[in-house]
Amino acid sequence: MASAASVVASALAERTVVAGIAASRLTTLGALAADRGVLYGCAASTFELRNQTFAPLLAREARILVAEYEMKRAALEPQPGQFDFTAADSLLNFAKPNGMAFRGHTLVWHKANPPWLESALASPGGKERTLAGYIESVASHFRGRMHSWDVVNEALAPADGRSDNLRNSLWLKAFGPAYIDLAFHVARAADPHALLVYNDWGCEGPSEKHDRFRAATLDFLERAIARGVPIDAYGMQGHLQAFGPKIDQAKLHRFLDALKNLGLRILITEHDVDDSGGSLDIAVRDGAVADASRRFLDVVLDNTATEAVLTWGLSDRFLDPPGWKETLRGYRPRLLPLDVDFARKPMWRSMAQSFTAMRPRLRTSNL
Ligand code: XIL
Repeated sequence: MASAASVVASALAERTVVAGIAASRLTTLGALAADRGVLYGCAASTFELRNQTFAPLLAREARILVAEYEMKRAALEPQPGQFDFTAADSLLNFAKPNGMAFRGHTLVWHKANPPWLESALASPGGKERTLAGYIESVASHFRGRMHSWDVVNEALAPADGRSDNLRNSLWLKAFGPAYIDLAFHVARAADPHALLVYNDWGCEGPSEKHDRFRAATLDFLERAIARGVPIDAYGMQGHLQAFGPKIDQAKLHRFLDALKNLGLRILITEHDVDDSGGSLDIAVRDGAVADASRRFLDVVLDNTATEAVLTWGLSDRFLDPPGWKETLRGYRPRLLPLDVDFARKPMWRSMAQSFTAMRPRLRTSNL
């Protein structure tokens, strides 16, 4: 018969373990975000997964993954009708066993397309298959396994001078504005389980130019939704500048509220903070990056329509090196939560603070 003291001791020990597990549960960005009811994750590439130190660390920190390059059209369809899902599948097969959600980026973009695409769009009768056929093939391949798809990426460019603010891209030239409606409808039919996202950048900043871009974006989305285009969410890329003009939190708040009032969910899809153009002092740069990220995410996470935050990578280790002039100056980019040795930076801590400080969401099933 155990003594009363030993029963109490074992109960305390168990409570300590449980508390320890609970506390340890909240020691990654993914866990901190999930505890508040949102997803944190990042872009990753297959060569990052081959780093035996990084891969398990990525699996601990991220709860959602997006392919940094491997699901762009140049990678998936290098030759007309010849699809190569090998790299994309390897990322998906890393995400799923690690309990991560997986999002697709991107079905329709004016960049990262195979060299044969423009001529295919110009061939009589080939263009519909070139757009609809591609989306159907790709979205069907991943059907039922995607958290979301960036169906159309960066379709707006007010500088192109159109009254509808659309980018004068190869897609617009081939189809007119209708390519956007076609893309979303085909994606919905191919994978009704995935959130369909319009993804863009240009609405984050404080200037009058950003004001115009925000207005153009809301007008574009409102008209598309009114036409019955199945857009579920706005993807705000979230590329910030550490030493540029500071985010105007009130303007950002109003814009995000307007998106929510359109019935849209909000994803931050490619967050990073460019730390060039200021000091070479690493502590100064890291501090400015963390401050910019905190200022941005505090507003983003205050909107209950925000469901996920992804950084465009997790560690500085895998970033493209800067130009030779910057390299000569000793600059190496430090845009992300972990440094080149996978150590947590001030940005990691500021993101952790943003997730911890946010009002908890009602828990959803996909966390
Ligand atoms: C970039 C990737 O980081 C590069 O590796 C690739 O060569 C081109 O695309 N906005 C986007 C992303 O939507 O797809 C871009 O990513 C960065 C800008």
